[in-house]
Amino acid sequence: MAMQFVLLSLVILKFTSAFAATLNEAYGDSSCPLGTDIYQISCPEAEAIIFSMVEHAISQDSRMAASLLRLHFHDCFVNGCDASVLLDDTQDFVGEKTAGPNLNSLRGFEVIDAIKSELELICPHTVSCADILATAARDSVLLSGGPLWKVEMGRKDSFTASKNTANNNIPAPNSTVDMLVAKFENVGLTLQDMVALSGAHTIGIARCPTFTSRLQSSTISDNPFDNMEFIASLQQLCSAPDNSNIGTQLDLATPATFDNQYYVNLLSGEGLLLSDQALVNGNDETRQIVETYVQNPQFFFEDFKNSMLKMGSLGLAQSNGEIRRDCRTIN
Ligand code: HEM
Ligand SMILES: *[C@@H]1O[C@H](CO)[C@@H](O)[C@H](O)[C@H]1NC(C)=O
Repeated sequence: MAMQFVLLSLVILKFTSAFAATLNEAYGDSSCPLGTDIYQISCPEAEAIIFSMVEHAISQDSRMAASLLRLHFHDCFVNGCDASVLLDDTQDFVGEKTAGPNLNSLRGFEVIDAIKSELELICPHTVSCADILATAARDSVLLSGGPLWKVEMGRKDSFTASKNTANNNIPAPNSTVDMLVAKFENVGLTLQDMVALSGAHTIGIARCPTFTSRLQSSTISDNPFDNMEFIASLQQLCSAPDNSNIGTQLDLATPATFDNQYYVNLLSGEGLLLSDQALVNGNDETRQIVETYVQNPQFFFEDFKNSMLKMGSLGLAQSNGEIRRDCRTIN
């Protein structure tokens, strides 16, 4: 994507959020704890700094866009978007970094640390780690060619983390559609949110252990969407005795571009995870949504944006927290 477009988009975003703030003042709306403009006076450079540091990180490592997007998801599914995922273990609690879905898998902590250090220099004790995660996820999608949205700000950082909740709440890649829906509903998201947000798998990588269930003969019997060539190539890829660090792109066709290709792949039986392919193999309702996104990429972008805003506002009710000075530890 042309850089000019990205910059222009952010300029437009700035105008529209100033406009929204004016509207809020005019209507005296103070009911919403999140706002798009809460750092306008306290840290006007915050969004530009986060954007340029995310852009730099992706230029060093193109996979970082995917990793930062996933960090925000794994944060929001455990007691809301409160940066609990960033906390290191302490004597009082075991953090989430060693939970099954996260261990040897989550990436990008150093990028968040670097952004936080920079923001602490420029406007100390002002921008929460949870807001940094939400903004870095948005910027990662935009820089990969995906839709743009205004990030709602004002999240607080948690005082604790929960390895158990991470294990229980984050969906497993061998899940059926019913199990996926249940995990999303458990945090207040719908089947439709689940299908739209799964489209994040249009970028990034998964390791063999996360899709071996997809390769077992028991799971590939008589499905109209089974693609034996694709499965054979994955079996080949993962045939090494220790395949735990062998990985491949979640979207083999356009691996670093945020587009609707993920859904196109599902219809040709090239979903990498069992939980990806299940969206067309296992359920009529989810398959119909997938077909809509294949036919009309704009519907996917629109739904993804809206579902990211919903996911990004999880956990606000229990918003007692702090602005951490270091994202890895409570103050
Ligand atoms: C629907 C249920 C979901 C399941 C079962 C699932 C599972 C997984 C698994 C197993 C991996 C590979 C991890 C590894 O091999 O280390 C992965 C990667 C990824 N997931 Fe999901 N995921 C789901 C939903 C989401 C959502 C909602 C998002 C974001 C909105 C997301 C974003 C990503 C990204 C971007 C990657 C690639 C990360 C990288 O390359 O570092 N996933 N997911
Ligand atoms: C998924 O894999 C886990 C760990 O290997 C296993 O305990 C669980 O039963 C599997 N779930 C399904 C639905 O196959």
